Amino acid sequence: MDNSKIKRYTVTAALPYTNGPVHIGHLAGVYIPADIYARYLRSNKRDVKFVCGSDENGVPITLKAKREGITPQEVVDKYHKIIGDSFKEFGVSFDIYHRTSSSTHHQTAADFFETLYDKGVFTEEITEQYYDEQAKQFLADRYITGTCPNCGNENAYGDQCENCGSTLNATDLINPKSTLSGNKPILKETKNWFLPLDKYEGQLREYIESHKEWRPNVYGQCQSWLNAGLHPRAMTRDLDWGIRVPVRGADGKVLYVWFDAPIGYISATKELCNYAKLDVWNPKAEEYYINNYESDKCGWEEYWKDESTKLVHFIGKDNIVFHCIIFPAMLMAHGGYILADNVPANEFLNLEGQKISTSKNWAVWLNEYLREFEGKQDVLRYVLTATAPETKDNDFTWKDFQARNNNELVAVLGNFVNRVVVLTHKYFNGVVPTLMELKTEDQAVVDELASFPAKISASIENYRFREALSEVMNVARLGNKYLAETEPWKLIKTDEDRVRTILNISLQICANLQILVEPFMPFTADKLMKILNNGKQAWAEAGSSHLIKRGHSINEGELLFEKIEDAEIDFQIEKLNQSKASNATPAAAIPAKENINFDDFSAMDIRVATIVSAEKVEKTKKLLKLTVDTGIDQRTVVSGIAEHYKPEDIIGKQVSIIVNLAPREIKGILSQGMILMAENSEGKLTFVAPTEQFEAGSVIR
Ligand code: 2FM
Ligand code: ZN
Repeated sequence: MDNSKIKRYTVTAALPYTNGPVHIGHLAGVYIPADIYARYLRSNKRDVKFVCGSDENGVPITLKAKREGITPQEVVDKYHKIIGDSFKEFGVSFDIYHRTSSSTHHQTAADFFETLYDKGVFTEEITEQYYDEQAKQFLADRYITGTCPNCGNENAYGDQCENCGSTLNATDLINPKSTLSGNKPILKETKNWFLPLDKYEGQLREYIESHKEWRPNVYGQCQSWLNAGLHPRAMTRDLDWGIRVPVRGADGKVLYVWFDAPIGYISATKELCNYAKLDVWNPKAEEYYINNYESDKCGWEEYWKDESTKLVHFIGKDNIVFHCIIFPAMLMAHGGYILADNVPANEFLNLEGQKISTSKNWAVWLNEYLREFEGKQDVLRYVLTATAPETKDNDFTWKDFQARNNNELVAVLGNFVNRVVVLTHKYFNGVVPTLMELKTEDQAVVDELASFPAKISASIENYRFREALSEVMNVARLGNKYLAETEPWKLIKTDEDRVRTILNISLQICANLQILVEPFMPFTADKLMKILNNGKQAWAEAGSSHLIKRGHSINEGELLFEKIEDAEIDFQIEKLNQSKASNATPAAAIPAKENINFDDFSAMDIRVATIVSAEKVEKTKKLLKLTVDTGIDQRTVVSGIAEHYKPEDIIGKQVSIIVNLAPREIKGILSQGMILMAENSEGKLTFVAPTEQFEAGSVIR
């Protein structure tokens, strides 16, 4: 969109499902890039509404409620608070963090549906849908799993395969299974309202193809959707949690969560603007947070219907089709709405080489990070931006987190600012010295400094936040290089005026950093503002070498960043190792052998026996030669337990033995029977024995 035509921005960040806390994958994929963009726009004095909220309808919520044994309302109340608090603490500067259980949203979504219904957009179809006879419920979306027909993933959901990203209908799944009862569902007829996506194919193609500048992953996914041909998609569901379908004959039906959720962006904007109009504090607003309350004098429609508004959706890659195909089709069908100018979707962030998984607790949870790394929100914001999965999946590792903190934030940015502040206090009592005559090397630094803001702006405006951040760090590198080359600590003895110039320029670099780091690391920008004591400047001021006036007093310094020690990282790695251990496939998960009949079982003569003697079998690593008292006789058994037990430790131990196993010769020794052992998932062996001392020869059955 032509920049000169833009009057305002609507920036949305995907509404997270309110069924659990948020983790670093969410932050890296959606919320940090969106926040950088919104903060950058505000710093440029552009009119922006940055909206988000909790996605509180749909099957993910009811499933969680079932699992936790609480009501869906209790689930959303609990996680809305946890998620909202985490965002706030990480400085994600939504103008509103709304929720889709609010009455404004219910009304907005229902009205939207009604408009489409009245316009005759929907087709009403009776189709066969899966039904769980035991749970007496239709199985929509995540109530059903099965094999994805596209990639063979056995855990695809009824609406989407998270492995290949394809959007599915439940009836597409191979071997469908109810997640409520585990049973195979039956097909049962039901009526639903379908959005005929196929009818919008031409318009959608035109829309997508007018945005060749979109990221290749987004553009490519849209193209392959369109090329595969679009089909009608049900916009209602037979469920009891969600927004009631506002038409006759729709009892027991709610709106499809992917119909109502994106409308959540609109209702959030509406709510934000409504509160400003009411001009009184509505206690209902306590349910979500609103920033910039005073400045929200707006009409929501401008942000959604005016062609001079630029709409940008920040999402994760699994949401592409919903934002680039289905939501635009809904908006086209409704009429009067603008469409997104860009949909910067990130790929996935992995953790220590593995896919982040909520169910396996393979994640770094934001609420835990905030407890364990108090005051270090910007470190995570920095690392997640520096390694953001913008064009391909990327990996977060704790070692890299530590290295980036210690070698980049502490050693480059923190070190530069600290040196400048310390030297200014030491040589000039904290007063900004006068800029004296500029030498060539000073002018070169001043010129280079002036070139950064435009580069950083271009990267941000093209959604290349990694690149932008690395340029910001280059500003600090420029400062460090300047100090290293000019060595003011040596010159102070001979040429104080020279030091004045060097420190003046260095302080200007610090003031520039305050502006430039703000979108990425707002807490650090605040610290810098406190130290420099020079107020807040807008982006337009960046690049200037006259941001801080001579004679101005700066404050005492505080360290911007602290070194992170190995012990803190080891603790995090250990936490993940524990998750790994508790996720290890238990031996019980090894599939059962084929059934045997009772006669097969009773043919085995299993007894309690006592080990009388034990010795290693020569030239073998694994074998022990045991003499056991079976109660019938004393006999020799060769057993493969030498790596688990020392001979001297097992004399007198009680074991279980199959006494009627045909004798076999092993390493020249006749073995008469077999000792029973249990083996766990790590291959450790232990004897299967009575839990109290039992007479040798006792029968096991
Ligand atoms: O994937 C998710 O977490 C969805 N709750 C995102 C919804 S985005 C939107 F459309 F609201
Ligand atoms: Zn798949």
